[in-house]
Amino acid sequence: MAQVRAAITGVAGWVPPYILTNQELEKIVDTSDEWITSRTGIKERHILKGEGLGTSYMGAEAVKELLKKTNTSPDEINLLICATVTPDMMFPATANLISDKAGIKNAFSFDMNAACSGLLFAIVTASQFVESGKCKKVIVVGTDKMSSITDYTVRENCVLFGDAAGAILLEPTTEEYGIMDSILYTDGSGSAYLHMKAGGSLKPPSHETVDAREHFIYQEGPPVFKFAVTKMADVAAEIMEKNNLKSEDISWLVPHQANLRIIDATGRRMGLSKEKVMVNIQRYGNTTGATIPLCLWDWENQLKKGDNIILAAFGGGFTWGSVWVKWAYDS
Ligand code: UT7
Repeated sequence: MAQVRAAITGVAGWVPPYILTNQELEKIVDTSDEWITSRTGIKERHILKGEGLGTSYMGAEAVKELLKKTNTSPDEINLLICATVTPDMMFPATANLISDKAGIKNAFSFDMNAACSGLLFAIVTASQFVESGKCKKVIVVGTDKMSSITDYTVRENCVLFGDAAGAILLEPTTEEYGIMDSILYTDGSGSAYLHMKAGGSLKPPSHETVDAREHFIYQEGPPVFKFAVTKMADVAAEIMEKNNLKSEDISWLVPHQANLRIIDATGRRMGLSKEKVMVNIQRYGNTTGATIPLCLWDWENQLKKGDNIILAAFGGGFTWGSVWVKWAYDS
């Protein structure tokens, strides 16, 4: 019997209309467009404004666009997985709220927290349900309202993050396309360098935690950078070696967008020219779970059936990984 694989059959994205530029940040904290651009590659990021709008709002917008463009009825979806570190609430899962907002009634849904690698962990999990025959149509959503956990008095962090959502549809195929292989890693000792101090069961919210500004991202940039640059490049090279893929076999690298210097190092390690590396960090910043689908969305009309694409990410946890995708359709 032919092997069943999970193929990506559609991508969509959604970014809020409000744009926060480097020039505007210069007025909020002691920073400069020159510093932000040279150290990170970021020029602007989108921010979700408006009372009562959280992460699920953006995720649902991306999912509705995905359903529309792939001509899929919400009733056909069997499973929805949401990758996020900024859930609307501690519970219920943001995935449940997205399904409800998008009119998805026949699916089960759950959240996955692997920080900036969340989309990869979610795709790999979703593909197991497709390959086993358990599910026919699965949506993976990466959505984060990073502005809700960003301290706009901390210049090291507030210049980095943006808000956005991206969604991917996975369906079974018996052709040689889809999710071909994956490598995922975690190392919890890295949590010391990148975490949120309060708000969880370890340190529930209190006046003191709010006063100490402990409900925001805590990041020690340089050690995270050191790990990210090594691990993301290593794992991208590892999946190529494992599958005997040479740099000339690769059509695209789709890297998590945390820092242009990390992206460049990964591309170089894989032996790829810059034209093969998707980079949109200058427009969106680091949108955590949304960066990889936003790249696929932006580049969709250039992707061809049969293209070998490597997705690679590194994030809080630490978590990191790579996924080899053979693109399944011509746009
Ligand atoms: O996506 C999840 C995983 N996260 C990442 O992958 C992020 C990894 N880390 C990074 O991308 C980088 O470490 C940062 C972009 C966060 C920082 O860049 P860096 O080159 O590591 O800078 P640094 O933290 O070593 O700071 C260099 C200098 C410092 O000043 P002194 O001590 O040399 O006088 C900082 O205080 O730059 C200063 N600085 C800033 N200056 C202007 C830090 N942030 C800013 C800022 N504007 N926004």
